[in-house]
This record gives sequence, structure tokens and C-alpha cells, in this order.
Amino acid sequence: MPSAGRETVHVEVDSERRLISRSPVLQRVIRQIEQVATADVSVLITGETGTGKELVARLVHKLSHRAPRDFVAVDCNAVAPTLLESEFFGHERGAFTGADRRRVGVFELADGGTLFLDEIANLALEAQAKLLRVLQERAFRRVGGGGLIRSDFRLITASNADLASRVRAGAFREDLLHRLQVVDIHLPPLRERREDVPLLVSYFIDRKRLLLKRPGVSRVSHEALDLLVARDWPGNVRELENVIERAIVECPGEMIEAAHLVLGAHSGSGQLPAEDMGLPFRAARQRALETFESLYLLSLLRRCQGSIKKVALHSGITTKHVRTLMKRRGLSRRDFRPLRRRSPRAPVTSGTQQR
Ligand SMILES: Nc1ncnc2c1ncn2[C@@H]1O[C@H](COP(=O)(O)OP(=O)(O)OP(=O)(O)O)[C@@H](O)[C@H]1O
Ligand SMILES: [Mg+2]
Repeated sequence: MPSAGRETVHVEVDSERRLISRSPVLQRVIRQIEQVATADVSVLITGETGTGKELVARLVHKLSHRAPRDFVAVDCNAVAPTLLESEFFGHERGAFTGADRRRVGVFELADGGTLFLDEIANLALEAQAKLLRVLQERAFRRVGGGGLIRSDFRLITASNADLASRVRAGAFREDLLHRLQVVDIHLPPLRERREDVPLLVSYFIDRKRLLLKRPGVSRVSHEALDLLVARDWPGNVRELENVIERAIVECPGEMIEAAHLVLGAHSGSGQLPAEDMGLPFRAARQRALETFESLYLLSLLRRCQGSIKKVALHSGITTKHVRTLMKRRGLSRRDFRPLRRRSPRAPVTSGTQQR
């Protein structure tokens, strides 16, 4: 069962996964999950890529009376439109060329359990109509005939796109959206809950160091942690997880240093954050420039240990300009002085405890 301490929550989702957070927003989400889990209603989980939508879907299943039965996950993006119907409803032998044996679809597999449809925004309109029909009738037929099949599943869907705007654009059915979002759970991006970053860093080190054959890695330097907390994380928790994995592999000793962090501009997904895509071109470009400016300054200040003169020399801009940029970004040279001159503060150590 979840343990909701005042500070940090650790919820065991399954043998491999936990959901952890110390952010008040996420703690409210966890309370919401506990409430809806037993209600057996459809749940729509929204949030940017990598914010933990699938993790939350698994948790809802685990806390529901359906937990002993299956959690069946389908990524709507990964199924070719022509095969979708067969994936959903299954097919009878000989239903179409290549259907050499009967196949049970996911609606049937999820009987008694939970069906998780991921990336639901990308479902074609035709498929949306079919899904709506199943939700209304709770029954369907396999492709190629056969009798009516009833299935008692709980539907959980997830989307990183704003479905209301898809409805306005005519790309998503409003009646389907109403059925999907009986309860709406929104996961905020990591940059809006930076207090979770140090916690997640410890958690990932703890979980990965043995797997990655680096049992000695146990800490993160202040400098590296500052960088991780300052980053905007377009790929959210998944991106942080990847960066820590990579850092563990690169780390020869106990402590992960800034040099072990490989932080791409928009690493991973090959997509801009949904938020940027919602902006007009000029505003999106401005945001990207600001992010770049912050990262450039942060990296250089760190390398120059807070010496504005050196930063100016390296970057080819005047000390006055460096100061202006730092002020605009809320950076102070004090934060970049060598560690020994900083006020003592315990480095983050790994070790996730149940509170
Ligand atoms: N609060 C959290 N605590 C611990 N691990 C987390 C948390 N949130 C996410 N994760 C981990 O981050 C990774 C990404 O999470 P998940 O796959 O659930 O995200 P998602 O929102 O479904 O992403 P996508 O939109 O890309 O499918 C997983 O490994 C998950 O276990
Ligand atoms: Mg997912």
C-alpha cells in the first residue's frame, strides 16, 4: 500500500517499479489515484512524454480489485491502422489473407482486468468509432465473424497531446473523449516539480548501479546535481533516468560528477515538448534560445568556476554582457566557486527508504 509521508512518498507499483515524489502536486495525484482505483471508472492520464503515465496506469490497476487479473497495454502508435481492428477484437482463422489461426484481441485478453490504451490521441477516427461502440455495448465480434463476445475490462487511456484541442480540430471524437475522461489525471512535467529531481536521481542510482555493474557508484556531486535540477527535461523522468544510467556507466569511482552527464539539447525523443509545439514559431524559437542561453552560461560558468572575466574571454562577449545575461537568468557567480569554498552541504547519497 502507498505510504504517504509528509515529505516523500514511495509507492510500490510492481517488483521492478516504484513511484516516488516529494512534490505536493504529485502527492495530490497519488491521493487521486487511491480514490479512483477502486471506483472502476475509465481514467484518462495526460502529461508530457516521460512523466510517468504508464507507471500511474499500472498503479491504478494494482490498487483496484482487478489487480489479480491482467494489465494489458497497447501502444496505439505502434499498431498499423490496417491491423488495429484485429489487435483490438482478434480475428477468426481465415478472416483475411495471412490469418492462418484464430487470434484473441486485447479487449478479450483484458477481461476481468485492465486495458491500457497508450497514445490514444493518434487513434484514427474510424478506430475511435469502433472503440466508442465497444464502450457503449461492452461487446464485440472478432474480425471474420463468430459470436458476440462480452468482456468486462476497465479502460485506462493516456495521451501526451491535448485531446480537447484535437476535438476542436476535428481529429478526435468529443463523445469518445467524454467516455474516456470520467476521471482525468494530469501529470505535471518534471521542470514544474524540480524538488523531485534529487530524489529521482538517488532512486535511479540505487536501482541501476548493480544492474550496470557499478556497485560503487553512490553519490552525485553538488555541481552535477545543480545541473540536473536546473535542466528543463523535455523528456521528463525517462530522460533523467537515461542520463543517470549513462552517468553511472561513465563514472569510474563513487561520485557522479558533472563531466559524467551527457545532456543533449533535446535528447531522446526526437520531438519538441508539446508545450513548444503549442507556441507560434517566434515564441517557440525564443524559448529554445533562452534554454540554450541558460545552458551555455551554466556550463561556462562552471568550467570557469564563476570567473566572469574568464567566461567573457571564452565566449567572446564583454564582461558587462555576461553580467547582464547572468542577471536575466538569475545566476550568481557564488554558485560556481570551487566546492571547498562553498558552505558545507551534504552531497546527495543514494538510498531510498520507505517512510
Ligand atoms: N515518479 C516516478 N518515480 C519513479 N519512477 C518514475 C516516476 N515517473 C516516471 N518514472 C519512470 O520513468 C520512466 C518513464 O515513465 P512512463 O513510461 O510511465 O512515462 P510515460 O508518461 O508513459 O512516457 P511516454 O509518454 O513517453 O510513453 C519509467 O521508467 C518510469 O518507471
Ligand atoms: Mg507511455
